[in-house]
Amino acid sequence: MKRYRLSVCKGSTCKAGGADGVHAAARDALSEQRLVPRCELYRGGCYGFCHMGPNVVVREDTGRKRDPLSPEDFQLMGWDGEVYYSEMTPEKMRRVVNEHIANDAPVRELFGQPDTPDPDDG
Ligand code: FES
Repeated sequence: MKRYRLSVCKGSTCKAGGADGVHAAARDALSEQRLVPRCELYRGGCYGFCHMGPNVVVREDTGRKRDPLSPEDFQLMGWDGEVYYSEMTPEKMRRVVNEHIANDAPVRELFGQPDTPDPDDG
């Protein structure tokens, strides 16, 4: 059985965009579906894609030894099984829990593109 670590960005821009509600939706959905043993819920970030937020990163927990500096909490690592979801809402978060966490089926249509330019950067 796969295990996951789901991180909701705690950076200020994502929080302003509703990340706390996304986190609450993840917590509630994991609890309701009894998925807490399969998925650690975490607050990471800022990941540097603030204009794409609220941002969520799901990674398979493969038992990889943790780097004490936890670089994965601030950037995408390109690891197998790493998925970045952008512009998340509570509804989208529940769908990710239902499909990705519960059924090992990442939700491709919600994948973010980390190289999407920030429209405010000129
Ligand atoms: S505040 Fe979330 S990516 Fe920067």
